[in-house]
Amino acid sequence: MSLSHFPSEAALLEAAPNRLAAQASGPLRGRLKPPGDKSISHRALILGLLSVGETLIDGLLEGDDVLRTAAACRALGAEVVRLGEGRWRVSGCGIGSLLAPREPLDFGNSGTGARLMMGVVGGHAITACFDGDASLRKRPMRRILDPLVQMGAEVLSEAEGGRCPILLKGASEPVPILYETPVASAQIKSAVLLAGLNSPGRTTVVETEASRDHTEKMLAHFGATISVEPFGTHGRKISLEGRPELRPAPLSVPADPSSAAFPMVAATIAPGSDIVIEGVMTNPLRAGLLATLLEMGADIEILDRRIEGGEEVADLRVRAAALKGVDVPAARAPSMIDEYPILAVAAAFASGLTRLRGLHELRVKESDRLAAVAAGLREAGVATQIIGDDLIVEGRGGEVEGGGSVETHLDHRIAMSFLCLGLASRQPMAIDDSRMIATSFPTFKADMERLGARFA
Ligand code: S3P
Repeated sequence: MSLSHFPSEAALLEAAPNRLAAQASGPLRGRLKPPGDKSISHRALILGLLSVGETLIDGLLEGDDVLRTAAACRALGAEVVRLGEGRWRVSGCGIGSLLAPREPLDFGNSGTGARLMMGVVGGHAITACFDGDASLRKRPMRRILDPLVQMGAEVLSEAEGGRCPILLKGASEPVPILYETPVASAQIKSAVLLAGLNSPGRTTVVETEASRDHTEKMLAHFGATISVEPFGTHGRKISLEGRPELRPAPLSVPADPSSAAFPMVAATIAPGSDIVIEGVMTNPLRAGLLATLLEMGADIEILDRRIEGGEEVADLRVRAAALKGVDVPAARAPSMIDEYPILAVAAAFASGLTRLRGLHELRVKESDRLAAVAAGLREAGVATQIIGDDLIVEGRGGEVEGGGSVETHLDHRIAMSFLCLGLASRQPMAIDDSRMIATSFPTFKADMERLGARFA
């Protein structure tokens, strides 16, 4: 099967928005394995492109975001072949030997794909145009372009405010830099490291709050010389020696904790539920939601902890439980940055107030998630307040009315969060458009239906 068998962006966006509603479904029961981790899937393809020889990937997420990155890898010279379900082979060209793409690189809805690939192009003597859908065109890219310009890349053109479409000319001899990320962002860190791969010296990234570490781990797996040291109380300093010869190494992608988050919360709030979510990555830098739900009183058993593909994974047995409101510290944000919408849904079913602190980064995700979550909860009859960068949810103690329709603003996580709410609210909950769910969790509806969820 080639990429042409997957829906193109034109197909996704030309089709009319696909309204969907979820209704109270009774207990969820059974087992599911969420799709492969999105962050790791992007990186697996990109490191495949940057090594010489064949990289075999198992469990790749075949969602639209990752397929865009696969297409971009092809445009830069790799051969990327789908061998079977989740099994892919990338024949890479190696650092320093990328081709200039002939067409603009269209990343659809994917900030990760676009930003990581800006790092790759920024470190090579090639020029590429980066573009995406209406959501991606609103997202800030200066945070990536600034360090790349310091390394010698040139922004030939950009839309207002440093947004896509962006024409980027990479550096012919990227300057190794020491860069402190202005916000905790694995995408910024990764873009700098990826550009540093083709630099003749040592590139160092300092982050004062540790963000997900998949790029560092995978670079080491492919044979790069990279060191990671603690920095300050919560931070890290990562140093990479440039121009390594990356050796293809087989990769197995664990199940995405950010996708597992949806059945995890759905089973917690739907009375009588009892499910097992298999093979979920429990990397501590991604496990903030699990820690928070446990603090709230969720009934989640962590079973059969093991290492798969170099990452910690476990099966999670989730049973319905009464939750209580908690105060979530800002320092936890990097470890659960994509999980706040679904955590806010859990908070709506808790008794008492939940305060989610330090959510400024939520305003620049696939949508302004702070505003979208508050508006959606209001539709469902749940009171919220936004104070500064904090979201306060007034929990309804298990009795959420539902009954509204939520605007998803091309945001997959807003879509799935409010569908999960509808599985346990009194009235059905509708979303205006379900198409974007395919960017990260293409089997969401079918998987949830198998557990007993009812959608209409
Ligand atoms: C990601 C990093 C996070 C996250 C995104 C995936 C990654 O973004 O929100 O979904 O794979 O590096 P930031 O780097 O902006 O925090």
